[in-house]
Amino acid sequence: MDWKIPLFKIYWDEEDIKAVTETIKSGKDWAIGPNINRFEELIAEYIRTKYCVVFNSGTSALHVDLLAYNIKQGDEIIVPSFTFISTANAPLFVGAKPVFADIEKENFGLDPEDVKKKITEKTKAIIPIHYGGRPCKIKELKEIAEKHNLILIEDAAESFGAKIDNKKVGTFGDSAMFSFCQNKIFTTGDGGCIVTNSKEMYEKLKLIRSHGRLEAQDYFSSTEYMDYVSLGYNFRMSNIVASLGLPQIKKVDKLIEMRRKNAEYMTEKLSEIKEIITPKLKQNYFQVYQMYTIRVKSGKEKRDKLKEYLAKKGIMSKVYFDPIHLTSFYKRLGYNIKLPMTEKISEQVLTLPMHPDLNKEEMDNICNSCKEFFKY
Ligand SMILES: Cc1ncc(COP(=O)(O)O)c(C=O)c1O
Repeated sequence: MDWKIPLFKIYWDEEDIKAVTETIKSGKDWAIGPNINRFEELIAEYIRTKYCVVFNSGTSALHVDLLAYNIKQGDEIIVPSFTFISTANAPLFVGAKPVFADIEKENFGLDPEDVKKKITEKTKAIIPIHYGGRPCKIKELKEIAEKHNLILIEDAAESFGAKIDNKKVGTFGDSAMFSFCQNKIFTTGDGGCIVTNSKEMYEKLKLIRSHGRLEAQDYFSSTEYMDYVSLGYNFRMSNIVASLGLPQIKKVDKLIEMRRKNAEYMTEKLSEIKEIITPKLKQNYFQVYQMYTIRVKSGKEKRDKLKEYLAKKGIMSKVYFDPIHLTSFYKRLGYNIKLPMTEKISEQVLTLPMHPDLNKEEMDNICNSCKEFFKY
């Protein structure tokens, strides 16, 4: 559908076109090439981790991360249900069981108190998400993980650049995933990465990413024998895609600033509406507004009507997220559980358009339409 105001728009410029064109015109290194390493270095430098490994998607990155930690059948992994499906599917990919914990209402992240209740002797890891550019209560979750000797993997797909007390998300856990899918803070179309400070994990991630092959040199331009030392996949990011990542990540601080400015403008306009809650967090939580999500206090009926009202005006809005444990697939797997806060919040949330280039006229249109709906 063609929306007058879509939920997001990709920010691109001539530098992006130039970078991709150069790789194409070189007539070589479209699959494996030097931009992959360079992109990984820039990500690690920005997030402040020792290592980064890029993949063809955030989903593949999570999958490989769990393989590298040797998570397997019989293991339990604590995840939110209020997230994108990949967070819960990743444990299933490796035969483990996702165990859902509830969320807290401030940041929409895993509720540390409920996480504690879900730990059993089979629990191996916790995968919290940082929702839509907001850091979750990762410090509390880290304490729990350390106390119970669990692996902490941050699903930071939506929150590149978000910080708590100036420490970037992605540096709290044992490893973290970021996504570069087209609706994220910066994008390569599709793509993702794992960041970590563990050299051992770095080596394993690279092996599993590319066929379990020891690649001292570029496979396609080397005649050297290369051994295959483990089971692996082809989850590589192509060098063409990595070429786009280089100019994209260089813009990231500017893009975050533009998003934050827009969000501030929207929040000021919308805070007049007493029937909704705007996305304001604690002072030391630096959010990057991958999404601008409001809560309609009275719940689903009014929320759905607002969504319809906006749609009639050509303004796209969307529910992020409907709970995973209530999907047909997870019900068929036998999940018959109650997560009160997840269920409540998912009936209240509505994500409004947010992207760096959203202009004042569009933001006025969105906010005034919300005001009209609530009769202000
Ligand atoms: C919280 C979360 N986890 C995982 C993913 C999966 O990332 P990708 O779309 O790059 O596979 C996404 C992206 O949509 C996400 O929002």
